[in-house]
Amino acid sequence: MTPATHARTRKDFLSVLDLDAADFERCLQLAAQLKADRALGRHAPTADALNGRHVALLFDKPSLRTRTTFEIGIRELGGHVVALQPDVALGCREPVADVARNLERWVDAIIVRTFSQAILQDFAAAATRLHVVNALTDQEHPCQAIADFLTLQEHLGPMRGRTIAFVGDGNNVATSLAHAAALLGVHVHVASPEAYQLPHAVVQQATGAARLGARLRLFTDAADAVAGADAVYTDTWTSMGQEAEAGVRRRVFAPYQVNEALMALAKPGALFMHCLPAHRGEEVTADVFESEASVVFDQAENRLHGQKALLLMLLAPAAAL
Ligand code: CP
Ligand code: NVA
Repeated sequence: MTPATHARTRKDFLSVLDLDAADFERCLQLAAQLKADRALGRHAPTADALNGRHVALLFDKPSLRTRTTFEIGIRELGGHVVALQPDVALGCREPVADVARNLERWVDAIIVRTFSQAILQDFAAAATRLHVVNALTDQEHPCQAIADFLTLQEHLGPMRGRTIAFVGDGNNVATSLAHAAALLGVHVHVASPEAYQLPHAVVQQATGAARLGARLRLFTDAADAVAGADAVYTDTWTSMGQEAEAGVRRRVFAPYQVNEALMALAKPGALFMHCLPAHRGEEVTADVFESEASVVFDQAENRLHGQKALLLMLLAPAAAL
């Protein structure tokens, strides 16, 4: 068999769990290879892998990292970026399905950041010829999880049996982290106030997908969750779209700040992680953010390499082997 015949064709990446464990691991390996090859510039083996392909970006919410890394990644793979303007206003001027059915006539893939996961699912279902990638919804942030595990592997080596503590809102970032951890045999402790825990459906999904003894545990006490963890992860207390709740959230989440005292309860040498943007003095103190333990800018860098790997797997599977 030629390598091309091994290549599996996947249409969309709406959730980490759209990949199986083997594909998620392959994505991480490929991302590491692409990171190493980046120094070769236009001589990199994948520099023309997306030659003649158009990839659109549609962002209904703000972004620095995701938008920038996708734009650069598409160009570095030889593809063309179509940056759609926010005036497309998904679901406002015309039905979501109609937007999708227009775009599939022109482009090969689209990277979408929007509000509900259901919008994204409708979009992907309507356009059977279009690869659709989740660039963050209210419920999931799967591209972030690729970069997170690439970063963890770089710093800690094989991750099976390790423990990550996520402290704060049981949100989109926590969900995708839990999904990926389940596939990779990594334990996750999530500490949140009672009303902001990871949704029960996510716990069920992660439990169902768990391999190699991976265990997901929910806590209300941050100290309990962090005890002995290899990495401590947090995210904003107020996600995009929740701005009206910011005052309440600042009060409810105050005991969940990641500070030096909390970090001291984790394993010696434990990493500090954050998807960014960060709010110093809220979910993390400035000293932890700037500490030796902090790998937040490695995570940001790895968004690029992880998403290039993902694009190859979706759009040029033969080049992804
Ligand atoms: N972490 C992340 O997704 O950053 P942006 O919102 O800036 O894309
Ligand atoms: N949970 C945050 C992540 C930002 C990258 C949000 O959805 O706003």
